Amino acid sequence: MGYRRKSPLICNNQGVFVTATDTGTGKTTLAIQLAAALTQRGTRVRARKPVESGCQRSEAGELIPADATALQLAAGGYEPLNQVAPYRLEAAISPARAAAIEGVDLHIEALHRACMKGVEPEDFLLVEGAGGFYSPLASDGLNADLASRLGLPMIILAPDRLGVIGHILLTLEAAKRRGLRVAGVVLNRLPDPDRPAQLDNLAELTALAEDIPFFTAASAADLPTLATGFAAQLTR
Ligand SMILES: Nc1ncnc2c1ncn2[C@@H]1O[C@H](COP(=O)(O)OP(=O)(O)OP(=O)(O)O)[C@@H](O)[C@H]1O
Ligand SMILES: [Mg+2]
Repeated sequence: MGYRRKSPLICNNQGVFVTATDTGTGKTTLAIQLAAALTQRGTRVRARKPVESGCQRSEAGELIPADATALQLAAGGYEPLNQVAPYRLEAAISPARAAAIEGVDLHIEALHRACMKGVEPEDFLLVEGAGGFYSPLASDGLNADLASRLGLPMIILAPDRLGVIGHILLTLEAAKRRGLRVAGVVLNRLPDPDRPAQLDNLAELTALAEDIPFFTAASAADLPTLATGFAAQLTR
């Protein structure tokens, strides 16, 4: 992409960029637990879903962002929704394409500004991307470009299914190329009736990328414990 960082300044806050290998892999589900765990520790969380596509339109004509609403509540509900979710789009496609169709001007720099709005030095900035790490996010960049601009460590969600190893290794290579720290990769076991019994992605990945912390969520019930661990790891 042609996006160039305009200033070398990046976010100095504690925080995390929650990304994934794909859409629908559990980013919001984990981020909600993480916001709750951080809040429980007494850390003030600034949750951001800087752009959300696929919003439902209310009877009053307002676009309702489901992810951002859940994040706002999990973080304590003290921030206005338009600070958590400043850009809302209706089409359930990539934000970049939805913005183009809906006539919304969407740039990485504006998304970065929106993420930082209202954030105090002691706050924890929790940003959920849209789709996967290389999914288009704005007219001039990918999720990876906003992650680079923020400079936050990342949690990468991935479905614990056959074929995911290649997607994870590609995502890790892309993160490394940008110098972004990976706090952890979560293999999230989404319901999958065709899952081969002998599948062991965790064992294979641990051997292939020894320096990366991998975690498995065998069900959604495992996510709160994982989130508590991340909350401790990511706060000063
Ligand atoms: N471990 C799990 N077991 C069962 N269901 C899960 C699990 N993790 C997430 N889900 C469900 O999978 C769906 C997708 O999860 P979620 O919305 O968190 O993904 P996402 O990565 O945030 O998606 P998007 O790309 O749309 O933001 C949700 O219905 C969620 O409740
Ligand atoms: Mg989500």
